[in-house]
Parts: sequence; structure tokens; C-alpha cells
Amino acid sequence: MNKFLTIIIAAAMWPLAASAQTPAAWNEIKGELTIALQTKGDAVRGQAAFVSCQGCHRQNAMGRTSGAYPRLAGQHATVLMKQITDIRAGRRINPKMEPYVDDHVTTPYEIADMAVFLQGLPIPVDELGMGPGKTLVAGKQAYDKDCANCHGPVGEGSAEKFYPMVAAQHYRYLLREMQFIRDGDRRNSNPDMVKVIKPYSNTDLEALADYMAQLSPPKK
Ligand code: HEC
Ligand code: HEC
Repeated sequence: MNKFLTIIIAAAMWPLAASAQTPAAWNEIKGELTIALQTKGDAVRGQAAFVSCQGCHRQNAMGRTSGAYPRLAGQHATVLMKQITDIRAGRRINPKMEPYVDDHVTTPYEIADMAVFLQGLPIPVDELGMGPGKTLVAGKQAYDKDCANCHGPVGEGSAEKFYPMVAAQHYRYLLREMQFIRDGDRRNSNPDMVKVIKPYSNTDLEALADYMAQLSPPKK
């Protein structure tokens, strides 16, 4: 190729290369998330597709009390679709799960099916991993002040705004995710949440997780 032409092409591509490096907005809706959100979703098909996930998240999607695997049962379908598409796009790092959800094994339509199936599942509270239960008052104070405006007064989250339900989730999972978000290791995070959680110590986060884990599953 003519040297002059190469320079012109390189110059024309420069802004593209630069914009590819700016991280996407945490809640940008595009590509397959748009498709999944527009798909009606079928719980029966979703149940069949979820079989490949059960080894980790369990058949009833309650995850593990150790917190290694989160409860998915009862979570908002929109939140599930966003997190799955973020994970497969590498916006949320999850190397363990990636091979099970990448675009060779599941389609945006199946993601919508699974999300609808999971959202409808019950949350048996005796299958939840609880915290020590000793700092619930401090946890509630911090939650009401800094978190309830997004995650809701009883931890119910918001389906429209992609805010996860944080009530009745495993203690250890909640704690780990808050640390990831605070320390910048969960890259798809809402920047406003990152700001709020920055000053919190691990002890403060333990109190918050303790409080959220024992909140009753919100009625829908
Ligand atoms: C090899 C184990 C494994 C398999 C199989 C697996 N996951 Fe996961 N999944 C995880 C782990 C670990 C996390 C939590 C990662 C973290 O700590 O950030 C997770 C997180 C998630 C989340 C985010 C939950 C939240 O509250 O933000 C969703 C949604 C999810 N998985 C759905 C699925 C679906 C659907 C499948 C099957 C297609 C699946 N997973 C298969 C291990 C797995
Ligand atoms: C500005 C709104 C906002 C505020 C304020 C906020 N969050 Fe969040 N939070 C989010 C959103 C959105 C997500 C999911 C996407 C992400 O990673 O940002 C999230 C994710 C989480 C998760 C992970 C849930 C899961 O299923 O993986 C936990 C736990 C959490 N927030 C707890 C808190 C706590 C505790 C506070 C208060 C100290 C708080 N959040 C304040 C918006 C907010």
C-alpha cells in the first residue's frame, strides 16, 4: 500500500481506536442485551437451558450457602440478563462461568428464557448463608443512609433500573461483591455506587452484608 494512503487510513482510524478503550457506560443497552430485553422469554424453555448451570448454581438456583455461587432464584429478569451479557462480553470478570455462557453455547433468546424462569422461582430462606447476626443495627443504619435509595427500603432492587435485589442473598457473596465493587474489580459497576462504597472498611461491609442477607425476600 502507498505510504501516504496508510497514513490517511491510520489517521482516520485513530478516533475509533481511542473510543474502543473508553469503558462502556455501566448500563448501556445495546447489542444482545437489547435483543434479550425485547424477547418475551419462555420459562419452560428457560428451565431446560438452565440445566447447564445447575452444577454451580444448583437445580433450584439457590446457589451455595458458602457464597461461592450466588442465588439467582427470584432475582429480577432484567438484572440477570444484564449480568449474563456483561459476563460474556468480559465487562464483568467471571472466568469460571464464562465457558458456560459464551455465545457458542447460548443465544440472547435463551438468556431471556432463563432470566424469566429464574425470576419466577421461590426463595427458600433456610437455604441461605447468613452472617454472624451481631452487627445488624450498624448494618441497617448504613444501608438506610447510603443504599436504600437505589436498592430499595427492603432490599427489593429495581427491575427497570437494573438495580439488583440484595435482600435474601448469601452473606459471603454479598460481602465479596461489595469488595469487588469498592476495589474496582467488578468493572460493570454503577459509578455512583462505587463512590458511595469507597469509604467503607471491610468491617463496615460485613455489617452491611449481615443486614442484607437476613432481610426477607421481597414480595412481588
Ligand atoms: C462453573 C460454575 C458456574 C456455572 C456453570 C455457571 N455459573 Fe453463573 N456464576 C458463577 C460464579 C462463581 C458467579 C459469581 C461470580 C462473582 O463472584 O462475581 C456467577 C454469577 C452469575 C450471575 C450473576 C448473579 C448476580 O447476582 O449478579 C448470573 C446471572 C449467573 N451466574 C447465571 C448463570 C447462568 C444462566 C448459567 C448457565 C448458563 C451459569 N451462571 C453457569 C459460576 C457459574
Ligand atoms: C446509585 C445506585 C446505587 C447505590 C447508591 C448503591 N448501589 Fe449497589 N448496585 C447498584 C447497581 C446498579 C448494581 C449492579 C450493577 C453494578 O455492578 O453496578 C449494584 C450491585 C450491588 C451488589 C451486588 C449484587 C449482586 O447480586 O451481585 C451489592 C451487594 C450492592 N450493590 C450493595 C450495595 C450497598 C450495600 C450499597 C450502600 C453502601 C449500595 N449497593 C449502593 C446500584 C447502587
